[in-house]
Amino acid sequence: MLDTPIHEAPNFAAGVAGWRNRMGASVPAADVLSRSLFRPRSELMPEAKPQQNLREEFNRWAADGRGESMEHDHWPIARPALELMQIAETSNIMDVGCGAGWLSRILAQRVPRGRVVGMDISDEMIAHARKASVGQKNLSFVAGTVDNIPWEPNFFDRIITVESSYYWPYPAQGVRELYRVAANDGSAWTLINYYRDNPYCHQWGKLLAVPTQLLSADEWKNLFRDAGFENVAHQLIPDPTPNPETYTGRWFRDAKELAAFRAIGALLVYGTK
Ligand SMILES: C[S@@+](CC[C@H](N)C(=O)[O-])C[C@H]1O[C@@H](n2cnc3c(N)ncnc32)[C@H](O)[C@@H]1O
Repeated sequence: MLDTPIHEAPNFAAGVAGWRNRMGASVPAADVLSRSLFRPRSELMPEAKPQQNLREEFNRWAADGRGESMEHDHWPIARPALELMQIAETSNIMDVGCGAGWLSRILAQRVPRGRVVGMDISDEMIAHARKASVGQKNLSFVAGTVDNIPWEPNFFDRIITVESSYYWPYPAQGVRELYRVAANDGSAWTLINYYRDNPYCHQWGKLLAVPTQLLSADEWKNLFRDAGFENVAHQLIPDPTPNPETYTGRWFRDAKELAAFRAIGALLVYGTK
């Protein structure tokens, strides 16, 4: 089984009736619900353990400056993906798992008459993203989890998520949420370097501090189809970054393995609503 069925996923709504404010006093459910119209759901609902672990881990990444440094590794594969997405000047786009927001900023420049929303489970990543994006009027950021995207249905013409979806604790529920917030005729695109069909990344799971999903291209496409997406397909995007002669990092055994990994490339899965 790939995923927890929706009825077993954490029931965030169940926490609303017994909500307590930060001082520990109980707050009437009606009051909470009326305020929830103005605040992201993620701020109101108790977090389940996997989401809390993700938020804490990526808050540490943000504090270490890793949100910004990921642009260097991810832009060479994200750039060709953007070309395939057929983005219009008026597109409304969500960047799910936006990290420090570098891609959201690039997207916002490409949609001068549209709007970009970056969303991430890490409130520290969101703080970094907001700080670096002051003055970009068509760009905003929200903290939230993909299992319960804090946005209205049928809104985004394009949804992109880069190097995030293998961290989602409930990938089927995450993809269903992408479908819910996608506009009719919109499309969703997930780009990942960690997937079963590329054998050179399998060791990453053991090196990461949070659980990951090592799914194949076919398994991701089935999640997209099950969520309701049509025209579901995938492409591999080789990474054109020049390879070093020697490799001293922890993700690959040596430079040869890194080169083989990049030659196979990242997995891009997409579908239309
Ligand atoms: C490897 S980083 C990639 C960040 C950014 N997309 C980039 O390319 O620089 C993964 C990001 O996904 C976010 N993330 C992981 N699980 C998530 C979830 N369930 N909901 C929303 N964001 C999530 C993390 O907080 C983190 O910022």
